[in-house]
Amino acid sequence: MAEDATDSIAARGPRHVAIIMDGNGRWATMRGRPRLFGHHAGARRVREIVESCPEYGVKYLTVFAFSTENWKRTQAEVAGLMNLFRGYIRREARALLANNVRVRFIGDRVRLDEKLIALMDELEAMTEGCSGTNLTVALNYGGRDEVARATQRLAEDVARGRLRPEEVNEETLPRYLDTWVLPDPDLVIRTSGEARISNFLLWQSAYAEYEFVDTLWPDFTRAEFGRLLHSYSRRDRRFGAVRTAAGGAAAR
Ligand code: IPE
Ligand code: IPE
Ligand code: MG
Repeated sequence: MAEDATDSIAARGPRHVAIIMDGNGRWATMRGRPRLFGHHAGARRVREIVESCPEYGVKYLTVFAFSTENWKRTQAEVAGLMNLFRGYIRREARALLANNVRVRFIGDRVRLDEKLIALMDELEAMTEGCSGTNLTVALNYGGRDEVARATQRLAEDVARGRLRPEEVNEETLPRYLDTWVLPDPDLVIRTSGEARISNFLLWQSAYAEYEFVDTLWPDFTRAEFGRLLHSYSRRDRRFGAVRTAAGGAAAR
Protein backbone atom coordinates (compact mmCIF):
# COMPACT_ATOMS: atom_id res chain seq x y z
CA MET A 1 0.00 0.00 0.00
CA ALA A 2 1.28 3.48 -0.92
CA GLU A 3 2.59 5.52 1.98
CA ASP A 4 0.04 8.34 1.58
CA ALA A 5 -2.81 5.78 1.69
CA THR A 6 -1.38 4.31 4.90
CA ASP A 7 -1.07 7.83 6.37
CA SER A 8 -4.65 8.61 5.46
CA ILE A 9 -5.88 5.39 7.11
CA ALA A 10 -3.87 6.19 10.23
CA ALA A 11 -5.35 9.70 10.40
CA ARG A 12 -8.97 9.07 9.39
CA GLY A 13 -9.38 5.32 9.38
CA PRO A 14 -12.02 3.40 11.35
CA ARG A 15 -11.41 2.53 14.98
CA HIS A 16 -13.86 -0.37 14.93
CA VAL A 17 -14.38 -2.60 11.89
CA ALA A 18 -16.97 -5.38 11.85
CA ILE A 19 -16.85 -8.10 9.19
CA ILE A 20 -19.55 -10.45 7.93
CA MET A 21 -17.25 -13.22 6.71
CA ASP A 22 -19.44 -14.71 3.97
CA GLY A 23 -18.85 -16.97 0.97
CA ASN A 24 -16.99 -19.95 2.42
CA GLY A 25 -19.52 -22.44 1.09
CA ARG A 26 -19.49 -21.07 -2.47
CA TRP A 27 -15.69 -20.91 -2.42
CA ALA A 28 -15.57 -24.65 -1.64
CA THR A 29 -18.34 -25.59 -4.08
CA MET A 30 -16.49 -23.78 -6.90
CA ARG A 31 -13.58 -26.10 -6.19
CA GLY A 32 -15.75 -29.21 -6.06
CA ARG A 33 -15.07 -29.57 -2.33
CA PRO A 34 -17.40 -29.94 0.69
CA ARG A 35 -18.59 -26.73 2.35
CA LEU A 36 -16.52 -27.41 5.44
CA PHE A 37 -13.38 -27.18 3.35
CA GLY A 38 -14.39 -23.57 2.71
CA HIS A 39 -15.00 -22.91 6.40
CA HIS A 40 -11.50 -24.13 7.23
CA ALA A 41 -10.02 -21.93 4.48
CA GLY A 42 -12.07 -19.01 5.81
CA ALA A 43 -10.87 -19.52 9.38
CA ARG A 44 -7.26 -19.32 8.16
CA ARG A 45 -7.90 -15.83 6.70
CA VAL A 46 -8.81 -14.41 10.08
CA ARG A 47 -5.26 -14.39 11.39
CA GLU A 48 -3.90 -12.25 8.54
CA ILE A 49 -6.66 -9.67 8.99
CA VAL A 50 -6.26 -9.58 12.79
CA GLU A 51 -2.50 -9.16 12.45
CA SER A 52 -2.89 -6.26 10.02
CA CYS A 53 -5.00 -4.23 12.48
CA PRO A 54 -2.17 -2.54 14.42
CA GLU A 55 -0.58 -1.31 11.18
CA TYR A 56 -3.91 0.12 10.02
CA GLY A 57 -4.81 1.64 13.37
CA VAL A 58 -7.89 -0.59 13.76
CA LYS A 59 -8.30 -1.00 17.51
CA TYR A 60 -11.47 -3.12 17.43
CA LEU A 61 -12.25 -5.92 15.01
CA THR A 62 -15.51 -7.84 15.28
CA VAL A 63 -16.11 -10.89 13.11
CA PHE A 64 -19.35 -12.76 12.46
CA ALA A 65 -18.56 -16.47 12.79
CA PHE A 66 -21.97 -18.10 13.36
CA SER A 67 -25.43 -16.58 13.41
CA THR A 68 -28.53 -17.54 15.38
CA GLU A 69 -29.98 -18.49 11.96
CA ASN A 70 -27.08 -20.77 11.00
CA TRP A 71 -28.58 -23.63 13.08
CA LYS A 72 -30.91 -24.12 10.10
CA ARG A 73 -28.02 -25.72 8.17
CA THR A 74 -27.49 -29.49 8.04
CA GLN A 75 -26.49 -31.16 11.26
CA ALA A 76 -23.21 -32.18 9.62
CA GLU A 77 -22.29 -28.59 8.71
CA VAL A 78 -23.25 -27.24 12.14
CA ALA A 79 -21.26 -29.99 13.91
CA GLY A 80 -18.30 -29.37 11.58
CA LEU A 81 -18.40 -25.65 12.35
CA MET A 82 -18.55 -26.22 16.13
CA ASN A 83 -15.62 -28.57 15.81
CA LEU A 84 -13.75 -25.96 13.77
CA PHE A 85 -14.37 -23.31 16.46
CA ARG A 86 -12.99 -25.58 19.18
CA GLY A 87 -9.92 -26.40 17.09
CA TYR A 88 -9.45 -22.77 16.15
CA ILE A 89 -9.38 -21.59 19.76
CA ARG A 90 -6.92 -24.33 20.71
CA ARG A 91 -4.62 -23.62 17.77
CA GLU A 92 -4.74 -19.83 17.76
CA ALA A 93 -4.67 -19.04 21.49
CA ARG A 94 -0.91 -18.83 21.70
CA ALA A 95 -0.52 -16.59 18.62
CA LEU A 96 -3.32 -14.30 19.80
CA LEU A 97 -1.65 -13.87 23.17
CA ALA A 98 1.76 -13.32 21.55
CA ASN A 99 0.20 -10.63 19.35
CA ASN A 100 -1.33 -8.88 22.38
CA VAL A 101 -4.89 -9.50 21.08
CA ARG A 102 -7.72 -9.32 23.56
CA VAL A 103 -10.45 -11.75 22.61
CA ARG A 104 -14.12 -11.48 23.52
CA PHE A 105 -17.13 -13.48 22.39
CA ILE A 106 -20.62 -12.10 21.82
CA GLY A 107 -23.82 -14.03 21.21
CA ASP A 108 -25.94 -16.41 23.22
CA ARG A 109 -23.96 -19.24 24.75
CA VAL A 110 -26.91 -21.39 25.82
CA ARG A 111 -27.00 -23.52 22.67
CA LEU A 112 -23.24 -24.05 22.52
CA ASP A 113 -21.66 -27.20 23.92
CA GLU A 114 -19.88 -27.15 27.27
CA LYS A 115 -16.44 -27.86 25.88
CA LEU A 116 -16.67 -24.93 23.47
CA ILE A 117 -17.96 -22.60 26.19
CA ALA A 118 -15.06 -23.63 28.44
CA LEU A 119 -12.54 -22.87 25.66
CA MET A 120 -14.18 -19.49 25.01
CA ASP A 121 -14.03 -18.61 28.72
CA GLU A 122 -10.43 -19.73 28.89
CA LEU A 123 -9.35 -17.65 25.89
CA GLU A 124 -11.16 -14.57 27.21
CA ALA A 125 -9.48 -14.96 30.59
CA MET A 126 -6.08 -15.69 29.05
CA THR A 127 -6.10 -12.55 26.89
CA GLU A 128 -7.79 -10.27 29.44
CA GLY A 129 -4.59 -8.32 30.04
CA CYS A 130 -3.81 -7.80 26.34
CA SER A 131 -3.82 -4.17 25.27
CA GLY A 132 -3.46 -4.46 21.48
CA THR A 133 -6.26 -5.27 19.06
CA ASN A 134 -9.67 -6.07 20.55
CA LEU A 135 -10.97 -9.06 18.62
CA THR A 136 -14.63 -9.87 19.16
CA VAL A 137 -16.03 -13.09 17.74
CA ALA A 138 -19.79 -13.25 17.22
CA LEU A 139 -20.77 -16.86 17.81
CA ASN A 140 -24.43 -17.87 17.92
CA TYR A 141 -25.03 -14.17 17.55
CA GLY A 142 -28.16 -12.47 16.20
CA GLY A 143 -28.91 -8.77 16.55
CA ARG A 144 -32.59 -9.33 17.35
CA ASP A 145 -31.77 -12.09 19.81
CA GLU A 146 -29.26 -9.79 21.50
CA VAL A 147 -31.79 -6.95 21.82
CA ALA A 148 -34.40 -9.38 23.18
CA ARG A 149 -31.95 -10.80 25.78
CA ALA A 150 -30.89 -7.27 26.71
CA THR A 151 -34.50 -6.18 27.11
CA GLN A 152 -35.16 -9.15 29.36
CA ARG A 153 -32.32 -8.17 31.71
CA LEU A 154 -33.35 -4.53 31.58
CA ALA A 155 -36.94 -5.48 32.48
CA GLU A 156 -35.62 -7.50 35.43
CA ASP A 157 -33.71 -4.45 36.66
CA VAL A 158 -36.83 -2.30 36.32
CA ALA A 159 -38.92 -4.91 38.17
CA ARG A 160 -36.36 -5.01 41.00
CA GLY A 161 -36.27 -1.22 41.22
CA ARG A 162 -32.65 -0.95 40.04
CA LEU A 163 -33.64 1.13 37.00
CA ARG A 164 -36.60 3.49 36.60
CA PRO A 165 -38.62 3.24 33.34
CA GLU A 166 -37.85 6.89 32.58
CA GLU A 167 -34.13 6.05 32.79
CA VAL A 168 -34.39 3.74 29.77
CA ASN A 169 -32.77 5.63 26.91
CA GLU A 170 -30.09 5.46 24.21
CA GLU A 171 -27.39 5.63 26.88
CA THR A 172 -28.67 3.02 29.31
CA LEU A 173 -30.11 0.42 26.94
CA PRO A 174 -26.80 -0.44 25.19
CA ARG A 175 -25.30 -1.28 28.58
CA TYR A 176 -27.39 -4.44 28.46
CA LEU A 177 -26.15 -5.48 25.02
CA ASP A 178 -23.39 -8.10 24.61
CA THR A 179 -21.23 -5.33 23.14
CA TRP A 180 -21.54 -3.03 26.17
CA VAL A 181 -17.77 -2.56 26.47
CA LEU A 182 -17.21 -1.89 22.75
CA PRO A 183 -17.57 1.30 20.74
CA ASP A 184 -20.04 1.16 17.83
CA PRO A 185 -18.58 -0.11 14.55
CA ASP A 186 -17.44 2.62 12.17
CA LEU A 187 -17.25 0.33 9.17
CA VAL A 188 -19.08 -2.92 8.41
CA ILE A 189 -17.66 -5.06 5.60
CA ARG A 190 -19.52 -7.96 4.01
CA THR A 191 -17.81 -10.28 1.55
CA SER A 192 -19.34 -12.56 -1.12
CA GLY A 193 -21.50 -10.05 -2.97
CA GLU A 194 -24.58 -10.25 -0.76
CA ALA A 195 -25.92 -6.80 0.11
CA ARG A 196 -27.65 -7.54 3.41
CA ILE A 197 -26.68 -7.47 7.05
CA SER A 198 -28.25 -10.80 8.09
CA ASN A 199 -29.07 -9.74 11.65
CA PHE A 200 -25.56 -8.49 12.52
CA LEU A 201 -25.06 -5.69 15.10
CA LEU A 202 -28.42 -4.09 14.40
CA TRP A 203 -28.41 -1.51 17.17
CA GLN A 204 -24.68 -0.83 17.02
CA SER A 205 -24.46 -0.24 13.25
CA ALA A 206 -27.15 2.44 13.10
CA TYR A 207 -24.57 4.93 11.81
CA ALA A 208 -21.87 2.63 10.45
CA GLU A 209 -20.47 2.95 6.96
CA TYR A 210 -20.89 -0.17 4.80
CA GLU A 211 -18.76 -1.93 2.20
CA PHE A 212 -20.13 -4.88 0.25
CA VAL A 213 -17.45 -6.63 -1.80
CA ASP A 214 -17.70 -9.56 -4.21
CA THR A 215 -14.63 -11.36 -2.88
CA LEU A 216 -15.46 -14.65 -1.15
CA TRP A 217 -14.17 -14.64 2.42
CA PRO A 218 -11.39 -17.27 1.90
CA ASP A 219 -9.92 -14.97 -0.80
CA PHE A 220 -10.05 -11.79 1.30
CA THR A 221 -6.56 -10.38 1.89
CA ARG A 222 -4.81 -7.78 3.98
CA ALA A 223 -4.35 -5.69 0.79
CA GLU A 224 -8.09 -5.64 0.06
CA PHE A 225 -8.76 -4.81 3.71
CA GLY A 226 -6.34 -1.88 3.35
CA ARG A 227 -8.13 -0.64 0.24
CA LEU A 228 -11.48 -0.65 2.03
CA LEU A 229 -10.00 1.19 5.02
CA HIS A 230 -8.52 3.76 2.69
CA SER A 231 -11.85 4.25 0.95
CA TYR A 232 -13.49 4.70 4.38
CA SER A 233 -10.93 7.38 5.29
CA ARG A 234 -12.22 9.48 2.38
CA ARG A 235 -15.86 9.30 3.38
CA ASP A 236 -17.77 12.16 4.90
CA ARG A 237 -19.69 11.02 7.99
CA ARG A 238 -22.26 13.61 8.89
CA PHE A 239 -24.42 11.87 11.51
CA GLY A 240 -27.41 13.88 10.38
CA ALA A 241 -25.68 17.21 10.68
CA VAL A 242 -24.64 19.65 7.95
CA ARG A 243 -20.98 20.07 7.12
CA THR A 244 -19.64 23.49 8.12
CA ALA A 245 -17.16 25.60 6.16
CA ALA A 246 -14.62 24.81 8.88
CA GLY A 247 -14.79 21.17 7.85
CA GLY A 248 -16.37 19.56 10.91
CA ALA A 249 -19.92 18.26 11.14
CA ALA A 250 -21.85 20.97 12.95
CA ALA A 251 -23.58 20.49 16.33
CA ARG A 252 -22.36 17.00 17.15
C1 IPE B 1 -20.04 -17.84 5.90
O1 IPE B 1 -19.97 -18.60 4.74
C2 IPE B 1 -19.74 -18.65 7.14
C3 IPE B 1 -20.92 -18.97 7.94
C4 IPE B 1 -22.11 -18.48 7.76
C5 IPE B 1 -20.73 -19.88 9.05
P1 IPE B 1 -21.24 -19.38 4.18
O2 IPE B 1 -21.19 -20.78 4.73
O3 IPE B 1 -22.48 -18.65 4.43
O4 IPE B 1 -20.90 -19.42 2.63
P2 IPE B 1 -21.94 -19.28 1.45
O5 IPE B 1 -22.69 -18.01 1.66
O6 IPE B 1 -22.83 -20.47 1.52
O7 IPE B 1 -21.09 -19.25 0.22
C1 IPE C 1 -24.16 -14.40 7.81
O1 IPE C 1 -23.98 -15.19 6.67
C2 IPE C 1 -23.61 -15.07 9.02
C3 IPE C 1 -22.15 -15.25 9.04
C4 IPE C 1 -21.29 -14.78 8.18
C5 IPE C 1 -21.66 -16.00 10.18
P1 IPE C 1 -25.13 -16.16 6.14
O2 IPE C 1 -24.57 -16.81 4.92
O3 IPE C 1 -25.60 -17.04 7.21
O4 IPE C 1 -26.28 -15.14 5.77
P2 IPE C 1 -27.49 -15.28 4.73
O5 IPE C 1 -28.14 -16.60 4.98
O6 IPE C 1 -26.89 -15.20 3.37
O7 IPE C 1 -28.35 -14.12 5.03
MG1 MG D 1 -23.46 -17.26 3.37
